[in-house]
Amino acid sequence: MTDLATVDFFSDPAVSQSPYEYWDHLRAQGPVTREPHYGVVAVTGYREVMAAFKDHDSFSAVNAIGGPFPPLPFTPEGDDISEQIEAHRHLFPIHEHMVVMDPPAHEKARSLLSRLLTPRRLKENEDYMWQLVDSQIDQFIGNGRCEFLSEYAKPFATSAIIDLLGVPAEDRPEFLAALGAEKPAGTSVGALDGEPVGLDPLQYLDDKFLGYLTERRREPREDVLSGMATATYPDGSTPELIEVVKPATFLFAAGQETVTKLLSAAVQVLGDRPEYQQLLRTEPDRIPNFIEEAVRMHSPTKVDFRLVRKTTTLGGVRLPAGTIVMLCLGAANRDPDKFEDPHEFRPDRKNVREHIAFGRGIHTCAGAPLARVEGQITVRRLLDRMSEIRIDESVHGPADARTYTYEPTFLLRGLTQLRIEFTPAAG
Ligand code: HEM
Repeated sequence: MTDLATVDFFSDPAVSQSPYEYWDHLRAQGPVTREPHYGVVAVTGYREVMAAFKDHDSFSAVNAIGGPFPPLPFTPEGDDISEQIEAHRHLFPIHEHMVVMDPPAHEKARSLLSRLLTPRRLKENEDYMWQLVDSQIDQFIGNGRCEFLSEYAKPFATSAIIDLLGVPAEDRPEFLAALGAEKPAGTSVGALDGEPVGLDPLQYLDDKFLGYLTERRREPREDVLSGMATATYPDGSTPELIEVVKPATFLFAAGQETVTKLLSAAVQVLGDRPEYQQLLRTEPDRIPNFIEEAVRMHSPTKVDFRLVRKTTTLGGVRLPAGTIVMLCLGAANRDPDKFEDPHEFRPDRKNVREHIAFGRGIHTCAGAPLARVEGQITVRRLLDRMSEIRIDESVHGPADARTYTYEPTFLLRGLTQLRIEFTPAAG
């Protein structure tokens, strides 16, 4: 049995399979507690995670993805390490991507992304997804069974981003292959999958998009890529092309694995709780809430990190500048002070939309609307096209003794595989 007092959250295999008991143990010590191995301060209380997200002056996002890996490239000195962070920023993993930027650079990068993610573009992308969902299901519906991650969730999530970015039709198969969407889940290029992140894991995408945008800046056409190539900053100045490429390519790292995990969690619930299948089929208006509860319960991004830039206090605990803070989203989303019976899946939970699986504050997930639509469309069409969805007992065991395996990482939470069987709906 795991000794929760000495467990190493970052490498313990049992905790990576189920972190909830460990998080409850930490929260019982206090919502802000130091973990024993890396000296990381773990925040498990909903209120405290929210407060840290909102206080970007005290908490820098420079280490948001890597946390204690690699160790800080400097020794923190004094109660304000802003200058030290800026002097060493280029040494942090994925430093060119907005998720680890602080103001004012973050604001500029995000402004370019908002030029792409317009309501009109999102609507066009949603229209595309309605076709995509059916063509994806067509590929395996006749088999009566599938491995849901590799046959549906992963290619679906990847294709949705490829379309969002307006990748020309003739190049799409190459993107799908290069991004691992035709292979088993967990093997994609540049996924933020909890391995220590390399300095530039998204080189393939950078090269492709640099090519597209260079061409379109020279000769704009009537397409999405031309809109990106000619986007300007709010002050009217023109960004370097690479400054447009980075927010675009980051969408793949941010939105592939996370959405795959959300979709598979939602279908896992449908398989384990067959009573929801008919409920959602006859009352599809309940699907959005069902998806929110799946996001809350399964929080695909388990943890997120911050570096204390200015000495501060959080939940009554003094945090000296230089402290690495781990915001445990999956724990905050199961904080009993916020969510009643937090370990229970309740599709009609009233305050479910207050979950913080998509973060909060200036870095709040730019793709959350997209992820939600992907979840809703998927559940809707699966239920329309399958009269009964069952978990494959030959792989996952009987209903009272399921065995599910989760990816052994500290950053993201998701199944390694999900084998389902189903009866195709008549007509
Ligand atoms: C269920 C699926 C998803 C989850 C759980 C999720 C979670 C998150 C979280 C927690 C953050 C905040 C990180 C931080 O504050 O350090 C974030 C940021 C971000 N997400 Fe998502 N995400 C999902 C899907 C997507 C999708 C589909 C896209 C785009 C296609 C996307 C794009 C982004 C971007 C660009 C950021 C950085 C925003 C910024 O730094 O301002 N995400 N996501």
